[in-house]
Amino acid sequence: MCEAYTTEQMRESLKKVEANRAANAALEPERMTAEQKDQVLMTYHPDYIESEFEELKIGPNKGEKVPHQLADLLQAHSRIDPSKIDLENPKYDVDVLVIGGGGAGSSAAIEAHNGGANVMIVTKLRIGDANTMMAEGGIQAADKPNDSPAIHYIDAYGGGHFKGKHELVAKLVTEAPDAIKWLNELGVEFDKMPDGTMITTHGGGTSRKRMHACKDYSGAEIMKTLRDEVLNRQIPVIDFTAAVEIILDDQGKAAGAVLMNMETKELMVARAKTVVIATGGAGRLHYQGFPTSNHYGATADGLVLAYRVGAKLLYADSLQYHPTGAAFPEQIFGALVTEKVRSLGAKLVNVDGEVFMHPLETRDICASSIIRECKARGKGISTGDGEGIWLDTPIIELKNGEGTIEKRIPAMLRMFMEYGIDIRKEPILVYPTLHYQNGGIDITPDGMSGVENLYVAGEAVGGIHGRNRLMGNSLLDVIVFGRNAGRSVAAKFKDVKLGKLTLDHVGKFDDEIKAAGIETDMVSPKLLPDYARKFKQQL
Ligand code: FUM
Repeated sequence: MCEAYTTEQMRESLKKVEANRAANAALEPERMTAEQKDQVLMTYHPDYIESEFEELKIGPNKGEKVPHQLADLLQAHSRIDPSKIDLENPKYDVDVLVIGGGGAGSSAAIEAHNGGANVMIVTKLRIGDANTMMAEGGIQAADKPNDSPAIHYIDAYGGGHFKGKHELVAKLVTEAPDAIKWLNELGVEFDKMPDGTMITTHGGGTSRKRMHACKDYSGAEIMKTLRDEVLNRQIPVIDFTAAVEIILDDQGKAAGAVLMNMETKELMVARAKTVVIATGGAGRLHYQGFPTSNHYGATADGLVLAYRVGAKLLYADSLQYHPTGAAFPEQIFGALVTEKVRSLGAKLVNVDGEVFMHPLETRDICASSIIRECKARGKGISTGDGEGIWLDTPIIELKNGEGTIEKRIPAMLRMFMEYGIDIRKEPILVYPTLHYQNGGIDITPDGMSGVENLYVAGEAVGGIHGRNRLMGNSLLDVIVFGRNAGRSVAAKFKDVKLGKLTLDHVGKFDDEIKAAGIETDMVSPKLLPDYARKFKQQL
C-alpha cells in the first residue's frame, strides 16, 4: 500500500476499495432522475447557499445577487484619478485593443489581424498565463458521423439547465467543427488513431463521444499553438500591463483603456476603435473559501471593467465547482483532476468502498453529490484538514488495459507521482474545487457587450453555458467566441470615428457608490489574489 496514505482510516478504507475494485469496475451506476438532481443541487450546491450572496446596490445589475467578493469588487472605486490621465496623448493608438493574453484574446487577435486590423494585446502577466493553458481534458465538437451540432446543442443547453442564450449556444455548437479544423491546421497535436481519425471520448452530460484531446495537456497544447501564431505574426503583445479602466468617447462608445505597468505602476493610455475584453474567470476570488483549479490571474477583472462603463452581466451568481479537485496531498489542494479520468472509467467511491453515483453526471450534480457524501452521509475520508472521496483510478487500467494511464493522462500520473502516489495502482482523494464562472458579461451573437464597440470573449462572457457548463465547452467557447469577436471587430473598426476620449464614468460611478451609502475603500480591478502580498504592496 502506498506510503503517502498514512492515517488508519485511509488505510482501512483503501482495503475496502481494493476488495471492491473488480466489482466496481463492472458496475454501471444508475443515472439520477430529474427530481433527484434538483434535490441534491438545491441542498448541497454552493450556489444555493443564500448567505454567500448579496444584492448589488448600483450599476446595470442593481437588485441582482452575486457572491460577496464579487459585489465588493463591482462596487469598488477606480484605481485611477481621471484628472491625472492625459487622454490627449495616448501612448498607443490601435484599431483593436485586446485585453487578456489567454486563448480567447489570442484567437480574437489572430482573426482581427486576418481582417487587416492594427491589433495589440495587453496582458497583466504574460501571453499564455491563463486558464486556457491549464485546461486538461479536451474540447468538444460534433464532427463524427453519429453526432451533429443539434445533438451537441441539446446536451449543452440541457446541461446548462435550459438557461443558455439560444443564439450563443447555437453559435458555440455550429462553429465547433470548424474550430477543431482551424486548430488542427494551426498545428495542434490532437490525439489521433493511426489512420488520422481524431480520438474522441465522453464528458459529463454528453450523449456522444465528442471530446477531442491532446492527452491531458489539451489547453497547454492549444495555448502554445495560439501563442506561437500571435508571436509569428508579430502582433504586439504588451506583457505585465493591466487594463485598469475602459475609456469611452463622448458618444459613450468604448474607445480604449487606461493601462498600468504591473511593476512600475506607470499609467498609460491606449486609444482604440474597438476593445475586446478577454480577461478570463474569477477562481482566485476563492468564493466560499473553496480552493481553485484556476490560473493565478483569475480575479474577475473584465467583469469589473465592463460593469463600471455600464455593461450588463448575466448569471454572475452562477459558479462551477469542478467535482474532482485534488484533496490530498495538501501541496496540490484544489488542483484539477481532469474529468477525462472519469471518462476513461475511474469511479467515485466512498469510505466504505462503495460507488455512490454515476461518474459522468453533469458537473454541478456530481460536485453536489460528493459534498453530500462527505457532509451529510459521513462517508468521506479525512485528509487531516479536510475530507474527500476516492477516485478509483486503477479501474482505468482494468478496463482499458495496462499503459492507458501513461498514454492518455500522463499529466495526472506525473502530478501524483511527485508525492509518491502511483495512480495506476492507488486511488486518489478528490473534493470539489472552484473551476469556472458560468456567468459573465452579456453579449450579442457578434460578441458585443451592452456598450458600443466593447466586445467580450472567453470566460468573461455570460450566457453561453446557462447555469452549468459541460466539460470541453470552455476551450471550445474560447476559440469560437474569440474568433467571433476578432472577426466582428475587424468588420467594425473601419467605420469607427472616435469622438473625444473621456473617463467621466469614473466620477459618475463614485457618485453612485456614495448615493447608495456604500462605504468602501476597496479599489478594483483586483489584478492579483490576496495572497500575492509582495506584489500587492507595490500596486
Ligand atoms: O476536467 C477537465 O479536464 C476540465 C475541462 C473543462 O473545464 O472543460
